[in-house]
Amino acid sequence: MTGPGAAVRSLADIERAAREALAPDVWDFVAGGSGDELTLAGNRTALDQVALVPRALTGCAAADPGCTVLGEPWPIPAAVAPMAYQRLLHPEGEVAAARAAAAAGVTYVISTMSSSPLEEITATGARTWFQLYWLKDRARTAELVRRAERAGCGALMLTVDVPVMGRRLRDARNGFTLPGSVSAALLGDGPHSATAHTADDTGSAVARHTSAVFDPALSWQDVEWLRGLTSLPLALKGVLSPADARRSADAGVDLLVVSNHGGRQLDGAIGSADALPAVASAVAGRLPVLLDSGVRGGTDVLRALALGACGVLLGRPVLWGLATDGEAGVRAVLDQVRDELEHAMLLAGCPTPAHAPGLARGTEGTR
Ligand SMILES: Cc1cc2nc3c(=O)[nH]c(=O)nc-3n(C[C@H](O)[C@H](O)[C@H](O)COP(=O)(O)O)c2cc1C
Repeated sequence: MTGPGAAVRSLADIERAAREALAPDVWDFVAGGSGDELTLAGNRTALDQVALVPRALTGCAAADPGCTVLGEPWPIPAAVAPMAYQRLLHPEGEVAAARAAAAAGVTYVISTMSSSPLEEITATGARTWFQLYWLKDRARTAELVRRAERAGCGALMLTVDVPVMGRRLRDARNGFTLPGSVSAALLGDGPHSATAHTADDTGSAVARHTSAVFDPALSWQDVEWLRGLTSLPLALKGVLSPADARRSADAGVDLLVVSNHGGRQLDGAIGSADALPAVASAVAGRLPVLLDSGVRGGTDVLRALALGACGVLLGRPVLWGLATDGEAGVRAVLDQVRDELEHAMLLAGCPTPAHAPGLARGTEGTR
């Protein structure tokens, strides 16, 4: 079976179909974390331990999961996370995923490591944001920002948790290289473009390519420089510390993403749902906060809202949908999350996302 078919009851069904459809090394590239994958597993544990405390007798007969994030009307409190090289999963890659996002009205975050040209993604009509990795060449970094502005991206999302790539042992053991048909389309034919395609005995070619291109010395001064470069709203992705959250607010950042990169960076890092309450309260009333890492369905979205997030980024599940059925597969994932969220909201007596804070154990008194 390649398509998820009619029997989809949860994202786990789509995950199983994706695993069957993908070559083992591509599956490992998507599914894997860093090191012993403790943080990868910890993300699930952290979310599973968020016990919801439903409200009864609310008279809530219908739930509306719509909300506003950075001035954008979101039909559900979720956007598609930036993820590299989506043509590994499907020949139409990012373009198919963005079409599905457009049809669902969901914001799609374009990765710096996109395997499709930026303009082809924005031409789908999806509402897009652009995720920025800090390149060693500052002029190229600035040019990416200008290109995103020209293409109509609505916000910039600077990823701050990849000074170097985490040790992805699955990729190292597989000697993972990109096939010739997939490349970092936005980085062009720079001096390092062949690296990601060239096997050698030092492990993952993708990791070698990253360390050749990314600047590990990204700092708050660079955030200030970027803040001065563009008038687009600026999000930081990969903030786990309340002190960094406060500093972000002082630096003119507009939104935070509490994330450990899906357990792909520092192994041993705190589960993102464990980090969320302190970060959200550090910037309460100043900055909206999104959560990612481990979100696997509508109940997880409600958990994130209950802990003070304004929404989530959907990561690997979108890639599972892409692998199983291209645009339709991604649409199935987004629809599944929406259905589950509406259902969970009804069961929790939560008519809108604004009613969710206070629904998690330990926060009951707050509303
Ligand atoms: C295959 C893959 C590629 C990714 N590429 C990027 C990327 O290019 N930029 C980025 O900021 N995050 C990237 N991420 C991290 C995601 O944006 C997100 O933080 C993570 O997938 C969330 O965890 P989850 O997939 O377990 O929900 C990638 C994740 C995966 C699985």
